[in-house]
Amino acid sequence: MTIHFIGAGPGAADLLTLRGRDLIAASPVCLYAGSLVSEALLAHCPPGARIVNTAPMSLDTILAEMAAAHAQGQDVARLHSGDLSIWSAMGEQLRRLRALGIPFTITPGVPAFAAAAAALEAELTLPGLAQSLVLTRTPGRASAMPEAETLTAFAATSSTLAIHLSIHNLDRVVADLTPAYGADCPIAIVWRASWPDQRIVRAKLATIADAAEGGPERTALILVGRVLGDADFCESSLYAIDYDRRFRPQSADSRFAEEA
Ligand SMILES: C[S@@+](CC[C@H](N)C(=O)[O-])C[C@H]1O[C@@H](n2cnc3c(N)ncnc32)[C@H](O)[C@@H]1O
Repeated sequence: MTIHFIGAGPGAADLLTLRGRDLIAASPVCLYAGSLVSEALLAHCPPGARIVNTAPMSLDTILAEMAAAHAQGQDVARLHSGDLSIWSAMGEQLRRLRALGIPFTITPGVPAFAAAAAALEAELTLPGLAQSLVLTRTPGRASAMPEAETLTAFAATSSTLAIHLSIHNLDRVVADLTPAYGADCPIAIVWRASWPDQRIVRAKLATIADAAEGGPERTALILVGRVLGDADFCESSLYAIDYDRRFRPQSADSRFAEEA
């Protein structure tokens, strides 16, 4: 049988894909990362499902659960928060499943950075301001950073930064980014994006420490970049009235005219 890895989204119960919902409903076993996955999603499990919160478990124990379900011919819905492609610990599980010859599928989910951007009503790539988004973090107790992946290195690009797992390092984030971005660069923190207790603070690099004082120490995204500032950016060419494009040829001579 199959282990279905499912991106469970950022928190809100309705930010789950239809495919993810249907796989949960069809799987007699559900293993969910309870530290960040909303328990409301468990309502999709079929009656009598074995539902296990893996937050306190080791990788060995989680794999033992999967192998036991597989041996009994049962599909497993494996839920991780947000999307599975970033900080989900899916990679190490897939490696073990491949070694054991247990099949799996992967269903993407809504990542937290997208939910945070929606909460801020922000596009993170704006013409002339930033055309790249860096998803990164600062070092944690359990995770060192590769040597070249420093905030100062990313700051040199002026990209928009979505800094995960780092709210406890806010002072360091500000210190590392201020030389390149400037003290007046906009920064926002979104705690628990899309959850009912979502909270937002917007400030500048110079003022964020005071603005965020007393905020929770967990489950927050730090977004930094000029795209979070006032609406001073150019419009994209794509929708410009005179821009010749495949879906809107401007003249009979357009190289796109024949295709239209
Ligand atoms: C282990 S990572 C999981 C990331 C997840 N796989 C994703 O796609 O967003 C946990 C970190 O993601 C961020 N995060 C997850 N859910 C969040 C939410 N609802 N609001 C704000 N940040 C969130 C926080 O930075 C948190 O420390």
